[in-house]
Amino acid sequence: MCEDDGMKKSIRVAVTGAAGNIGYALLWRIASGDCFGANQPVTLQLLEIPPGMQRLDGVIMELKDSAFPLVHDIVGTDDPNIAFKDADAIFLVGSRPRTKDMDRADLVAANGPIFVGQGKAINAVASPNVKVITVGNPCNTNALIACANAPDIPSRQFTAMTRLDQNRAVGQMAERAGVTASTIHDVFIWGNHANTMYPDPRFGTIDGKSVTDVLDKEWLQGAFLETVATRGKAIIVARGASSAASAASAATDHMRDWWQGSNGRIVSMALPSEGWYGVPEGLVFSFPCRCENGEVTVVEDLPIDSFAQSKIDENVAALLEERDAVSELLGN
Ligand code: NAD
Ligand code: LMR
Repeated sequence: MCEDDGMKKSIRVAVTGAAGNIGYALLWRIASGDCFGANQPVTLQLLEIPPGMQRLDGVIMELKDSAFPLVHDIVGTDDPNIAFKDADAIFLVGSRPRTKDMDRADLVAANGPIFVGQGKAINAVASPNVKVITVGNPCNTNALIACANAPDIPSRQFTAMTRLDQNRAVGQMAERAGVTASTIHDVFIWGNHANTMYPDPRFGTIDGKSVTDVLDKEWLQGAFLETVATRGKAIIVARGASSAASAASAATDHMRDWWQGSNGRIVSMALPSEGWYGVPEGLVFSFPCRCENGEVTVVEDLPIDSFAQSKIDENVAALLEERDAVSELLGN
């Protein structure tokens, strides 16, 4: 493969927890070109912990058996310094999912320490331009930990995933309005990937009409909000396992828009605040974003009404509490 046949130079894509449930769906989306483009070859650098290495061998066999034209090479390892070496994009998925008796924040003690070592390894060996998405929960605070332990990488290169929440919001609206998801744009999430999140309908459109003209306010601030915020738990109860295919799809959407652009659309990404909308600096918070030329820009000028402000405040308070709980993992 070379530039002459329309193919680009291969990029290095690292996925942690690659033998897990999300990994099993995500790797096939990356390998088929859904994320980085149909002309973009990839080298997959897959990380597992030692007990997961045998399962990872099986996943790699299946990837090879899929004969993806875009897959240049596949590396499987339990060493983050190998997995993240020169990585252009990293999906931090590896960590424990919650069970039905837990909130996502309950995972911080189990999963937070993982992101110390991985942040350090990213700092030491990844491409200086690496784009990192954190999926492992609690994803906002885990991204904060990874970012804090990678002081040489600009903080805007560390993000956490709230795209699944955005997609859930769009799915609920599409069902209620009797339209397909493709007609709905600019609905996004504020805050934490937790029950406090705020799916903001105010700037969204359905078939070109304002969401708030098509759908009633009582539903938008009531059942809709509640359904989106608690969907992760509902899936765990129904499936007996946490969302995996929809999470992989959302991670693909997040990285695809970051890599290839969001075409002027507003999308949800959690990233370390630079003081936007009064959110304390450094907190990894989901904002309305646009992506262009590989850069994320927070949409800074949206009006905030009292309901939105109360939800932003609630999320800031929750994330400050999570940050306090992991203060010893943040370096310095
Ligand atoms: P899983 O248990 O099926 O797989 C996790 C994999 O990670 C396992 O194979 C495990 O061996 C591996 N792992 C554990 N520690 C690791 C480490 N230090 N380095 C590398 N790999 C490691 O879980 P899953 O269903 O794939 O979910 C993974 C995470 O994603 C969970 O924390 C879950 O809560 C989270 N999640 C987040 C969202 C979101 O919207 N942000 C959505 C769904 C799931
Ligand atoms: C989800 O939203 O589906 C995931 O974060 C899993 C969970 O624990 O809710």
